[in-house]
Amino acid sequence: MNQLDFQGRHAVVTGGATGLGFGIAKRLVDSGGSVTLWDRDGEAAAKAAASLGEKAFALAVDVSQQPSVAKAVAATLAHANQRIDALVNSAGITGPNTTVWDYPVDAWRQVMDVNLTGLFICCREVVPQMRAQGWGRIVNIASVAGKEGNPNASAYSASKAGVIALTKSLGKELADTNIRVNCVTPAAVKTAIFDQMTEQHIAYMLSKIPMGRFGQVEEIAAMVAWLCTEDCAFSTGATFDLSGGRSTY
Ligand SMILES: NC(=O)c1ccc[n+]([C@@H]2O[C@H](COP(=O)([O-])OP(=O)(O)OC[C@H]3O[C@@H](n4cnc5c(N)ncnc54)[C@H](O)[C@@H]3O)[C@@H](O)[C@H]2O)c1
Repeated sequence: MNQLDFQGRHAVVTGGATGLGFGIAKRLVDSGGSVTLWDRDGEAAAKAAASLGEKAFALAVDVSQQPSVAKAVAATLAHANQRIDALVNSAGITGPNTTVWDYPVDAWRQVMDVNLTGLFICCREVVPQMRAQGWGRIVNIASVAGKEGNPNASAYSASKAGVIALTKSLGKELADTNIRVNCVTPAAVKTAIFDQMTEQHIAYMLSKIPMGRFGQVEEIAAMVAWLCTEDCAFSTGATFDLSGGRSTY
């Protein structure tokens, strides 16, 4: 494992109780930083933080609710020496696997609320702090689905396309500051999120990966953690591939 330098810095990782978020938080702690895990499942987040040791904290936060996020920013600053150096937006849900014409409208709205509006709210609430402190890194977890549009996953794909576009907009808005905003577009990685998908959909995603295997949490965490460091300096509003060869753009 390469040594990354996140020494003395503090990151917020949404959806940090499990899966990619937890793997990213672990890599940031292993790189010398501290983290606060924001997750809807406060109990799981507390257990996850405890497993990372004294440099990890946990808060129960629903990213789709602005008051919940605003409260979490204040609580995080209070225990993190008034700094949020990095924000990793990993909280997300898949929604049902079905065609557009069968897609329940409420389920569509819920996916958008968490994956896109929730991510927007977290950026909106954290950016003023990063601007005030004069430095920051934001990494949004989009998906290859947002580039290509997976069949039977329209809300998920559309929400992730929105994340890519929001990343580009915010990256440009902050380009004249020391804040960098980027996103990654992973192909499938076996985490608890698979429990929300049909077997047929999981097989479809695997069939599209030229490497013929799923990604690993550590592989995603390595790139995301690097994007949180000072070494990520001349990239902003960019989309980084993590798809085992699936994406050709
Ligand atoms: N695993 C994959 O195959 C894959 C591929 C591409 C992109 N992604 C994206 O990566 C991110 C993480 O996925 P994962 O595989 O770790 O999933 P996961 O289900 O293991 O973890 C998601 C976490 O987000 C939390 N969460 C859900 N809704 C929330 C809300 N409203 N507020 C706060 N927390 C909330 C959950 O409690 C959970 O801890 C998601 O955005 C997902 O879309 C995953």
